[in-house]
Amino acid sequence: MDFRIEPAAIGDATCRVPGDKSISHRAIMLGSIAEGTSRVRGFLPGEDCLATLAAFRAMGVPITADGETGLTIEGVGLDGLRAAPGRLDLGNSGTAMRLMAGLLAGQPFDSELVGDASLSGRPMGRIIEPLTRMGAVIESDCDGTPPLQIRGGLRLGAIDYALPMASAQVKSCVLLAGLYADGETSVTEPAVTRDHTERMLRILGASVRSRGGRVSVQGRPALKGADLEVPGDLSSAAFVVLAALLAPDAQVTIRSVGVNPTRTGVLDILQRMGADIEIANPRELGAEPVADLRVRSSALTGIRVDPGLVSLAIDEFPVLFVAAAAAGGETVFEGLAELRVKESDRVASMAAGLSALGVDVEETPDGAIVRGGTIGGGLVDSRDDHRIAMALAIAATVASDAVRIRGVDNVATSFPGFVELMSGLGAKVSLETDT
Ligand code: S3P
Repeated sequence: MDFRIEPAAIGDATCRVPGDKSISHRAIMLGSIAEGTSRVRGFLPGEDCLATLAAFRAMGVPITADGETGLTIEGVGLDGLRAAPGRLDLGNSGTAMRLMAGLLAGQPFDSELVGDASLSGRPMGRIIEPLTRMGAVIESDCDGTPPLQIRGGLRLGAIDYALPMASAQVKSCVLLAGLYADGETSVTEPAVTRDHTERMLRILGASVRSRGGRVSVQGRPALKGADLEVPGDLSSAAFVVLAALLAPDAQVTIRSVGVNPTRTGVLDILQRMGADIEIANPRELGAEPVADLRVRSSALTGIRVDPGLVSLAIDEFPVLFVAAAAAGGETVFEGLAELRVKESDRVASMAAGLSALGVDVEETPDGAIVRGGTIGGGLVDSRDDHRIAMALAIAATVASDAVRIRGVDNVATSFPGFVELMSGLGAKVSLETDT
């Protein structure tokens, strides 16, 4: 499918975005291996999380739906998973594959993990390496990409691992394997990454210590089911935030969005560009801080983006490239090497998309220089990446002419209802079959 978007102003509105993708994955995984019932509220029924849900059901975990966004998980305990009858297909989801690889390395049965074309090209050596050090045996394609064959029945040993890259997926993978290892497993990260795994493990009763960039978990904890609340996904809210900022005269409130400080880099960067974003009504929702975001139209200015904020805004760079395209002056992005191994090479995808719309973008080996100006109409490609499709859709709301975005089916992986929500705000988005 394609999006066809006519330029149209966003108006005043109050809305909510779907549940957080990272936290929804973790709720299924950890709820499944806890003892007893976990009730999940605010679950994201997007394709990525539904793939994780199907995988745990296939491994014998009874999970029932309570409406669209509620789940009841009858946890089977650390040792209660059973071999799935076949391969586990994790679709487009790197989070599902990397976290589950850690969890499955400690099971008594073999597993095979597969994914779609994009996931099948993503690097898994980064998890195979630490898991192998723990005593796991995992085979991948010769270039370190999926499918993954994970041998079961092995005894894992705890490790003290220094992550070579800032990655919450790799950190979480090692911590989940650590639940099955003898002793205490530690991970040290080179930069702060999202800590949802640590927070949820604590809610379920595990002993997790975090200090100075080092996280440690004790093996074989007694995990007990709990109520698990999923806040709105800041990564999805970021698209709405930018649409409101770029509109000529809008005030939009997004209610109950996760504002975990390991995720809020996007707000810091936009505020430094001159964005009027108020973090209102801050409160706790389960293990996570949430707030309402009040956003007003703002004139943005180009900046040199602090590379120290990259790991705190890792999924928001597509939308930040659009902010830079619409800002006055030049924005310099550095330290974006990890963006090149996401669902697509997001630096290249955004450079190509914005250039096709007449924006001056110069790609550099680890980032880009974007010179703000007029965004024109035209035909662009999402490169089968949900966040590229949505970022370009936001650019299109302020383009001088209509924009067609090819290959937008993947938007359903993280943001079901994107078109309806944007239309409700006043955008003119239609879905058309590709020709
Ligand atoms: C995620 C971690 C990040 C992020 C991804 C979700 C997670 O990936 O890009 O969308 O849920 O842990 P990396 O660990 O590869 O940076």
